[in-house]
Amino acid sequence: MINMMLVPLFIIISSSLVYSYRPVVLLHGIMTGSDSMELIKDRIEEMHPGTIVYNTNRFSGWSSLESMWYQVQQLGNDLINITEKHPEGINLLGYSQGGLVARAILQAFPNHNVHNFISLSSPQAGQYGTDFLHIIFPNLALKTAYELFYSRVGQHTSVGNYWNDPHHQYLYYNYSEFLPFINNEIASNKSEEFKVGLMKLNKMILIGGPDDNVITPWQSSQFGYYNRNESVINVMHRDIYVEDKIGLKTLDKQHKLILITVPGVDHFMWHMNVSIVDKFVLPYLD
Ligand SMILES: *[C@@H]1O[C@H](CO)[C@@H](O)[C@H](O)[C@H]1NC(C)=O
Ligand SMILES: *[C@@H]1O[C@H](CO)[C@@H](O)[C@H](O)[C@H]1NC(C)=O
Ligand SMILES: *[C@@H]1O[C@H](CO)[C@@H](O)[C@H](O)[C@H]1NC(C)=O
Ligand SMILES: *[C@@H]1O[C@H](CO)[C@@H](O)[C@H](O)[C@H]1NC(C)=O
Ligand SMILES: *[C@@H]1O[C@H](CO)[C@@H](O)[C@H](O)[C@H]1NC(C)=O
Repeated sequence: MINMMLVPLFIIISSSLVYSYRPVVLLHGIMTGSDSMELIKDRIEEMHPGTIVYNTNRFSGWSSLESMWYQVQQLGNDLINITEKHPEGINLLGYSQGGLVARAILQAFPNHNVHNFISLSSPQAGQYGTDFLHIIFPNLALKTAYELFYSRVGQHTSVGNYWNDPHHQYLYYNYSEFLPFINNEIASNKSEEFKVGLMKLNKMILIGGPDDNVITPWQSSQFGYYNRNESVINVMHRDIYVEDKIGLKTLDKQHKLILITVPGVDHFMWHMNVSIVDKFVLPYLD
């Protein structure tokens, strides 16, 4: 009698453990690899047992400097392959540059089935700060970096592709092959697809904070950016939102755009802090 009761109960419990959480794909940041995302992976597996976590090591180390479009195409193909195994949908998290690659994949592959997208301190509106680049470009100065990045050669690097110098906007629009397109600041025959790919999300979660020290301005992690005077304009007052260029306003009106600001976290700690994972990542991995 007891045994007969236990068997179906066990099946119900074990199947709910296996199927309740969607698989998660993690994309690492610049100059690092999958190792840097192990803490997040381990914590997800510990707190949401049964979750499949894909932690890619592609474009690690120096290859993380390859052009954004190349990374988006390659990693996008990988992502579509993963989604084909999981018709129920997946969740996607990218850290730092990986969050911008991830967001662009959603736009360039609008047939994806990503449920929630989490951007962990990523330069979504661009970057205008050089401190973190001194390992790669030792002599780079903020005010003249545009001379390198807004050139044919500079556009072969990922950083050049999202370098957004508020004092040289005409060069940004003329030279940048990536950010003004993926942000639909320059209209293209892909603009509509780029919008569709984001608007189909269940939620877009943008995490960043004032003590980041790398993403500059830090509000870029939430699509805020400098105007020509280096005053920061928050996302809600920028054209990208007001004119709903990529669907941010639509998502927001449907309560699907979630901006999370956390003080006291340095850029190199977001993915190393269990409390960040517990409070701001796990709740969105359903
Ligand atoms: C995707 O899957 C197909 C078929 O299984 C395979 O041929 C292809 O190499 C895969 N692509 C990537 C980028 O993994
Ligand atoms: C490109 O630069 C020229 C000046 O060199 C400027 O007149 C033009 O508006 C720029 N293009 C865009 C799209 O901003
Ligand atoms: C879209 O624009 C690109 C770049 O200008 C061009 O190479 C491509 O042929 C265009 N595609 C269509 C379908 O018009
Ligand atoms: C820059 O600041 C000046 C003076 O405060 C102001 O008149 C101007 O509108 C500002 N420009 C922009 C682009 O915000
Ligand atoms: C870890 O994250 C919490 C917020 O969840 C923050 O208060 C704390 O300062 C962070 N610790 C470090 C070392 O970044």
